[in-house]
Amino acid sequence: MTQFINFSDLPQAEPEALALSQCLLDKIKTNIIRNGGVIGFDAYLRQALYEPGLGYYSAGQRKFGEAGDFVTAPEISPIFSRCLARQCQPILAQLVHSVIMELGAGTGIMAAEILLELQSLKQLPDAYWILEVSADLKERQQTFLKERVPFFFDKIQWLEQLPDSSYDGIILGNEIVDALPFKRFHKQDNTIFELGVSIVNGQLSWQQNEAAGKLLTGVSALEESLHTNIPNGFTSEINIELSAWLESIASKLNNGVMLLFDYGYPAKDYYHPQRYTGTLQCYYRHHVHDDPFYMPGLQDITASVDFTCLAEATHNIDLRVAGFTTQSSFLIANGLDDIINTLDNSNSKQQSINAQAIRTLTMPGEMGERIKVMALTRNCNVPLQGFTSMDQRARL
Ligand SMILES: C[S@@+](CC[C@H](N)C(=O)[O-])C[C@H]1O[C@@H](n2cnc3c(N)ncnc32)[C@H](O)[C@@H]1O
Repeated sequence: MTQFINFSDLPQAEPEALALSQCLLDKIKTNIIRNGGVIGFDAYLRQALYEPGLGYYSAGQRKFGEAGDFVTAPEISPIFSRCLARQCQPILAQLVHSVIMELGAGTGIMAAEILLELQSLKQLPDAYWILEVSADLKERQQTFLKERVPFFFDKIQWLEQLPDSSYDGIILGNEIVDALPFKRFHKQDNTIFELGVSIVNGQLSWQQNEAAGKLLTGVSALEESLHTNIPNGFTSEINIELSAWLESIASKLNNGVMLLFDYGYPAKDYYHPQRYTGTLQCYYRHHVHDDPFYMPGLQDITASVDFTCLAEATHNIDLRVAGFTTQSSFLIANGLDDIINTLDNSNSKQQSINAQAIRTLTMPGEMGERIKVMALTRNCNVPLQGFTSMDQRARL
């Protein structure tokens, strides 16, 4: 839930970080001016998150973990990645030559833990690819993985773009889809408006213009599939490029499975009239707020994932939605209890760290139900145990 915060109470950014943010802000303003005074929120996000050397994910600020801005499941405990590895094992067992391709690998910890667990299950893939759009994160992952799992280093390969030739295997993405640029819209007087970004009195500001093109088509299609009109006064987000993104990510997958984990909902919940301010959230040093113009480049900006839209994006690209569930039921069905028994519980401090991690990963109000897991398959009929205790595909 977004907190109401007083921005002056937030931790101060260091002078070098502020200088980078100012430099990014200047570039964003130049772009706005070059585009006639307004850009789409997706264009703003492309710069705020991914502008080379300056964007949140491209620059060198600490992002993950306690000293960063947010924590993801693989950072909380190895439990997450080990359960995931157990889901990968039977899929890899069925393929003759197989790879795992991880999208946006954060610190690299998920790759390390998955490979360690697969080694103990005697089911290592032929290769582990990391598709990383951030040069800074790639460097950090290389340093971390060289130290943590030097014996696997030859197996790991960084990709700057999608592979050219087809392969069999597994594509993994934890909190990737919520980091893709999205558009923001508002409905008023039965008209859809795009919320773009302009400059007012030297400051970045929302600007509302009547929606056109792909945004208008996207929201109209959404209303049609919801069998209801979005109410007036409603503001929300939509990723109109999701289908193209999914198609390109899966384009060379011959036989295999894609597993995507993210904060999100089926469309009926995402666009429920009660969620009338949308799902936009910004993370700065573990404070959550809704001002995306606060220090561009120094905070993460996300929106929840519309999993119905993701499911619909599979229709023309030969992918099948093979499962949809919550993180907690996925972990439980993949041997959570077993893995908990292997944890180091030798002293009370460690016991309390483990207990807290399990709570965060599985409790409904934490990641347990807020994070969903979707399995998409192509030419692969391996039963996916992660979805056996609860499969919510009917809610999509
Ligand atoms: C919230 S972080 C999650 C990192 C990591 N998966 C984890 O769970 O800790 C989002 C990641 O998505 C990556 N990313 C964004 N767009 C991407 C794309 N088109 N392809 C692959 N990775 C992408 C970012 O660089 C960043 O590493």
